[in-house]
Amino acid sequence: MFTIAVSKGRIYQEAVPLLARAGIVPSENHKDSRRLILPTSDPHVRLLIVRAADVPTYVEYGAADLGIVGKDALVEYGADGLYELLDLNIARCRMMTAGVAGENWEARRLRVATKYVNTAKRYFAERGIQAEVIKLYGSMELAPLVGLAQCIVDLVDTGNTLRANGLEPRDLILEVSSRLVVNKVAMKMKHKSIKALTAQLERAVSEASAC
Ligand code: ATP
Ligand code: PRP
Repeated sequence: MFTIAVSKGRIYQEAVPLLARAGIVPSENHKDSRRLILPTSDPHVRLLIVRAADVPTYVEYGAADLGIVGKDALVEYGADGLYELLDLNIARCRMMTAGVAGENWEARRLRVATKYVNTAKRYFAERGIQAEVIKLYGSMELAPLVGLAQCIVDLVDTGNTLRANGLEPRDLILEVSSRLVVNKVAMKMKHKSIKALTAQLERAVSEASAC
């Protein structure tokens, strides 16, 4: 039996077609359902519907054998207890710094608002920039507009959210896409079947990128 913890929301939506190519079809659409454990067309595989930031925890503690999660969440968690098996090439975006368009904040002692507190602290420390990092849980774009922070660290895809709020992207911190991760013990105990599933997903990823 395999348990795969999948980051809910956009990663889940983009992972479903890949899983389907690997013969794993959820029994119901989780958008229409309140169920958090979904059986699949493969009697040996079930999916857990998990918040993005919680996926590494489920996998590290062995509550799930495998996880599908953004690189952003992995880096923030500091996932030493996991192996990254495959770049699934879905939910691609960039983690960036951003601030009010045209405003120069580089020289100041920075206040930074983000949900990626660990990553942001590391990023600024590595550059010798003194930064006070404030934890937010969403709508980071608001912070520079109301003087909570000069800078945010957030995900950027089209840039529409930044633009709509008069902000501009500055520096790239991390290229983000979703990864297949595995619990270290599961990797030993279920090595053969995990390798087979990874190979199937790898094929699905290359088929999807050829389309
Ligand atoms: P939660 O509410 O649980 O904190 P969330 O609302 O941030 O989650 P999503 O916005 O669905 O959840 O993001 C989950 C993951 O999707 C992120 O960890 C990231 O890897 C990826 N992601 C987020 N925003 C984008 C985007 N604009 N484009 C592409 N991928 C994204
Ligand atoms: C994500 C991210 C940005 C936005 C970037 O938010 O936190 O706000 O996408 O995408 P863009 O550059 O294409 O505008 P999301 O849409 O997931 O909303 P949430 O973080 O409030 O859940």
